This record gives sequence, structure tokens and C-alpha cells, in this order.
Amino acid sequence: MPNQFNQTEHTQIAEGLKPVLAESVQLYVATQNVHWNVTGPLFQAVHALTEEQYLEMAPAIDEIAERIRTLGQKAPGTMAQYMALGAIADADENAAAEDMIRALNEGHNAIANRIRPLIAAAADVADDVTAGLLTDRLAVHEKAQWMLGAML
Ligand SMILES: [Fe+2]
Repeated sequence: MPNQFNQTEHTQIAEGLKPVLAESVQLYVATQNVHWNVTGPLFQAVHALTEEQYLEMAPAIDEIAERIRTLGQKAPGTMAQYMALGAIADADENAAAEDMIRALNEGHNAIANRIRPLIAAAADVADDVTAGLLTDRLAVHEKAQWMLGAML
């Protein structure tokens, strides 16, 4: 049975997913850093919200990676690749709670900005599965920006 995918188009979509995977891992790590190290009056709220967020991100990271595999590419799985592909900085465990929240918010915004053009690109080549996955991820990252922003 022939491959149901147009290989060139779907390689391009998989390449577009790689930075989304990298930045999802980077934001996952940064979110746990804040969860562990936040201090001050916002501790309980930030500690609880970041736990919700990293628990949500863990299976999503797996889904994005497995979509890359389904599209025929190897999924980046090393810290070196994530640093090369993604641009979300590590969290600063000594930062003030408000600055930690702002930094996480910027991370969610960065991923959202990566995802938006990819949804259209996937839809253009009739890759509805990737478009759907990315639309779900976009909703999560937009909602996270609201929830983090509402704490400030
Ligand atoms: Fe915890």
C-alpha cells in the first residue's frame, strides 16, 4: 500500500513541528523550575498552576514527537537538539515570582507564535491531523497566557 502522505509536503510539516517540540520541552522544564523555586505571597497559586501546566504538557510533548514520527521524520530527543531548535530560555530559580510568571508567559507566547502559521501550513497540504493537534496546543498556550497574566 502506498504511503498516504505526500512525502515532500509532510517532511516540511514535520520540520515545522520540531521547534514546537523543542520549545514544549524547554517550557516544560522552565515550568517545573518555577513550580519548585517560586517564593513569596504568590507561592501557593503559582506552585499549583505550574503543576497543572507541566502535567498537561508532558503527554502533549509525546504527541508532538509521535506526530513527527508518523510524518516520517526522526523526533529530536536530545537537549542539544532542543537548544539548537528552540529559543525559550531557562527559568531563573532566584527571580521574583512576578518575573517568573512574566517569563513563563513569554514562553507560552513564543510557542503560540510558532504554532499559528503552522496550522495554516498543515491545512494547506490537507494534513488535518497535524492542524488539529496544533490547534489544540494553541488553545492551551493561549489559555496559559491568560491564567499567568491574571496573577500579575
Ligand atoms: Fe510538585
